[in-house]
Amino acid sequence: MTTQSAVTSIPVSRPFFGKEEEVAVAEVLRSGWVSQGPRVADLEKRFCAHTGAKHAIAVSSCATALHLATTVLNLRPGDEVICPSLSFIATANSIVHGGGMPVFADIDPLTYNLDPELLEAAITPRTRAIMAVHQIGLPAAMNEILDIAKRHNLPVIEDAAPAAGAEYFGRPIGAPHGLLACFSFDGRKVLSSGEGGLITTNDDAIADRLRKLRTQAMSVSDTARHSSSKIVFEQYVEVGHNFRMSDIQAAVAGVQLTRLPDFVSRRRYLASRFTEAFRSLGWLIPPTEPKDMLHNYQSYMPRVAKNSPISRDDLMQALLDRGISTRRGVMSIHREPPYRDAKWEKLLRNSAAVTDECIILPMYQLLTDQEQDFVIESIREIGASAQR
Ligand SMILES: Cc1ncc(COP(=O)(O)O)c(C=O)c1O
Repeated sequence: MTTQSAVTSIPVSRPFFGKEEEVAVAEVLRSGWVSQGPRVADLEKRFCAHTGAKHAIAVSSCATALHLATTVLNLRPGDEVICPSLSFIATANSIVHGGGMPVFADIDPLTYNLDPELLEAAITPRTRAIMAVHQIGLPAAMNEILDIAKRHNLPVIEDAAPAAGAEYFGRPIGAPHGLLACFSFDGRKVLSSGEGGLITTNDDAIADRLRKLRTQAMSVSDTARHSSSKIVFEQYVEVGHNFRMSDIQAAVAGVQLTRLPDFVSRRRYLASRFTEAFRSLGWLIPPTEPKDMLHNYQSYMPRVAKNSPISRDDLMQALLDRGISTRRGVMSIHREPPYRDAKWEKLLRNSAAVTDECIILPMYQLLTDQEQDFVIESIREIGASAQR
């Protein structure tokens, strides 16, 4: 077996930055204020306008956003938070960092998001919150989830890491639908600032606490100190963190926010071309987009059907051999060492099946129609020449 690294001509994902991002970064560098400052405040204001949320709090990543979200739940040892296993491990890690215990509920086999019925069945007297994930940019069934949460008097946190630009019943994800929604701006997301995150909420007291917690729980912000004509001494009101976003990142994210509608519409166009091609192919099952949900297609993840002429792994390898990079389906957290427990195997079959049977195909702003045709044609040829 060789260890030679593969040369790919079509990556699975690639961010798009233009002249405007370059100019915005240069302006920040020249301004002399590079850490959290006016650009972060401006991004927050504009994210509120985009989502309709009362507050937006920018942070260093979605992992840190989720960490703060679970901190404001005031969890105590033994408290449980229900989340899907089919997610990036940061979802469950944030519950542990917040002092609680993740309890996994299985997903709906069509949408790959939390199955509301299974979620309700997982509620125990120790449940303190629900963490719904809008996986790869498709909104979770928030109406059903919020109904259940209301009946059981539980707050809902939305892990909206991949979901900037997605909509649920005509309202943007981040409105927020639950108590808090947490976004990621890492390099693979539709809207990217390299790294970065943001929380939206309509709760004044929680927003105030989140703003403090991201900056070591300092009682006075840097901007307030800077603009004061009187000397100000700060206090550190609880144990906080440095989870701040820099003004350099905020400047990039601010430009990207203006591009978000274009990003989403290009992705939706590419997704519709994939879907049409795979319908005629018959062995690659396209993702579902239920009525009243708008998928941003952060990732396009079809499923290799049971009757497929080729296994998922062999398909990935054959595509890589042609220079096309792919990824397996979204991970199942319960299979990773910190969360392994025999009890999950029986309960999380749909999640495990998606991890094993799905494939994430190239999807990004600059993917051309011709490159996409090459991906589609390659899949067709590989399938036609495969013998299982
Ligand atoms: C569902 C989900 N949650 C959380 C995260 C963590 O985001 P970040 O990389 O910004 O920490 C990701 C990142 O891929 C994600 O997909």
